Amino acid sequence: MASTNKIIAIDGYSSCGKSTLAKALAERLHYLYIDSGAMYRAVTLYFIRHAVPLTQAEKVAAALGQIHIDFHIEPGRTRISLNGEDVSDEIRQMYISDYVSEVSAVKAVREAMVAQQQRMGKNKNIVMDGRDIGTTVFPDAHLKIFMTADPKVRAERRYLELKGKGNDITLEEVFENLAHRDYIDTTRAESPLVRSEDAIILDNTELNEAEQLQFVLDRL
Ligand code: DC
Repeated sequence: MASTNKIIAIDGYSSCGKSTLAKALAERLHYLYIDSGAMYRAVTLYFIRHAVPLTQAEKVAAALGQIHIDFHIEPGRTRISLNGEDVSDEIRQMYISDYVSEVSAVKAVREAMVAQQQRMGKNKNIVMDGRDIGTTVFPDAHLKIFMTADPKVRAERRYLELKGKGNDITLEEVFENLAHRDYIDTTRAESPLVRSEDAIILDNTELNEAEQLQFVLDRL
């Protein structure tokens, strides 16, 4: 029987507010929210802790075999665990942001994550955000959104968020990290960030959270 579950794919540049939108949509529609970027961040944390060399395919494959990622739904928030440890806060640290694009450009890493993401989307209504959800993970998603926003506005939003969480960081560092990640994410060989032809563009430079949510609800 053909599957009847619904999938909303949200892709776009770093710090465009994809997860804010995805969470709001999932809550409104009672869908499951899956943050695919958090999975690449968890892999990055593991690779840093275990000093896995990205250029050695066997070591990368062996490490991937040791990684078990789970999502736990708690009231109002989703937590991610890496081999049983809640790493939701640790993976947001800047040292992970600085290295995650390199790790997620590795073919074997992508294959492992995409396979797990596709399993999570089986028979469930989900909202998933990332870089390749509408192009590679769920090319048949029933709604695809491609998010973008002015890079300066994105950096300011992320800077304020990180500052608010007590991070010692400058606006310039955040801006450079976003530019660096955008560059790697869009130019890597393995499923780079590109807009799927059938994705609707959402530029939220001048939209607030309620407006961007309404933009998508109007297109369902
Ligand atoms: O969404 P995020 O900023 O937390 O994602 C972290 C990194 O993971 C991002 O710089 C690129 C990578 N990523 C990816 O390659 N594919 C995805 N589907 C999601 C994230």
